[in-house]
Amino acid sequence: MADHHAMPKTTLKDFLYATLGGLLAPAIAIFMIVLLVLGIQANFGASDAAPVADRIVRERIQPFGQSVVVDPNAPRIERTGKQVYDEVCAGCHASGALGAPRFENAGDWSRRIAQGYDMLLTHAIKGIGKMPARGGDPDLSDLEVARAMVHMTNSAGARFEAALKKEPEPTAAQLERGKLVYAENCAYCHDTGITGAQKLDDAAAWRPLLQAGKEYLYHAAINGSFGGPAKGGNEKLSDADTRMAVDYMVDRARAAIAAGATQSAAK
Ligand code: HEC
Ligand code: HEC
Repeated sequence: MADHHAMPKTTLKDFLYATLGGLLAPAIAIFMIVLLVLGIQANFGASDAAPVADRIVRERIQPFGQSVVVDPNAPRIERTGKQVYDEVCAGCHASGALGAPRFENAGDWSRRIAQGYDMLLTHAIKGIGKMPARGGDPDLSDLEVARAMVHMTNSAGARFEAALKKEPEPTAAQLERGKLVYAENCAYCHDTGITGAQKLDDAAAWRPLLQAGKEYLYHAAINGSFGGPAKGGNEKLSDADTRMAVDYMVDRARAAIAAGATQSAAK
């Protein structure tokens, strides 16, 4: 089979990228070779240095041939919490601009800290109220946001350790599905609070449940817990659907808790 491709037209942008890449690639290649030579000298000369150098240089150059100006092989340097705080977060959190809880101010932070690490991190990453997502810097990695968040909250009395959440967040589609499953199987009790089921907007009831973690909640919903029937009493419900219903419930409960925190912070 012939594999003909129509030649794409080179736009001005392609041309500029290609030119830029053409200029940058040799510079980086030279830099890499220098580093390599230094490295080899340090190692008292490796016998297969030449092919290795060749391969590394080609790997380095290759992305530029594809009109990518940023080097995707460059290891990302994760900044410390203090660096990110100073550069990005201090703009609001040092002075309390826009109502931001202030650095080292335990009074501003205590109720927020009580929400727990995961919730705070979710808010720092996704934004909340006047707080922009990632403090307004979309280039920050999750880990950098976590470190900055920990730097701030620990200054105000928390004892967190920066770690990324292990629980993956549901996608929008999963939440939609969860909402549907919830409406059909769970709302009867969890909207009304009948038989002691936790209502979705009952922040006080959900706070300890969220701290228990989603794995616990999935397990409780699938197998039943206390007064809660397994799968809401619908044996035909799949485990996956039950989990998505829990995801939806957790999402609503988090919103209720966040609304409570914002209200009390505004007071
Ligand atoms: C443009 C101003 C601004 C910047 C920059 C900013 N914040 Fe905030 N932040 C706020 C405001 C305002 C609030 C209070 C929001 C609310 O509760 O309504 C807040 C609240 C928070 C909270 C508490 C959320 C909660 O659930 O109570 C965390 C955590 C946080 N910010 C982390 C960060 C981090 C980390 C950075 C830097 C990467 C950052 N912020 C940068 C304005 C800012
Ligand atoms: C017949 C009423 C009823 C229905 C329907 C129902 N639940 Fe519940 N649920 C309860 C009660 C009661 C509790 C326990 C409250 C307690 O722990 O004191 C509960 C608790 C829970 C909990 C928290 C676990 C815990 O330790 O308390 C989760 C999560 C949950 N239900 C999920 C679901 C899901 C998902 C559905 C739908 C698929 C559902 N429930 C349907 C009554 C119901």
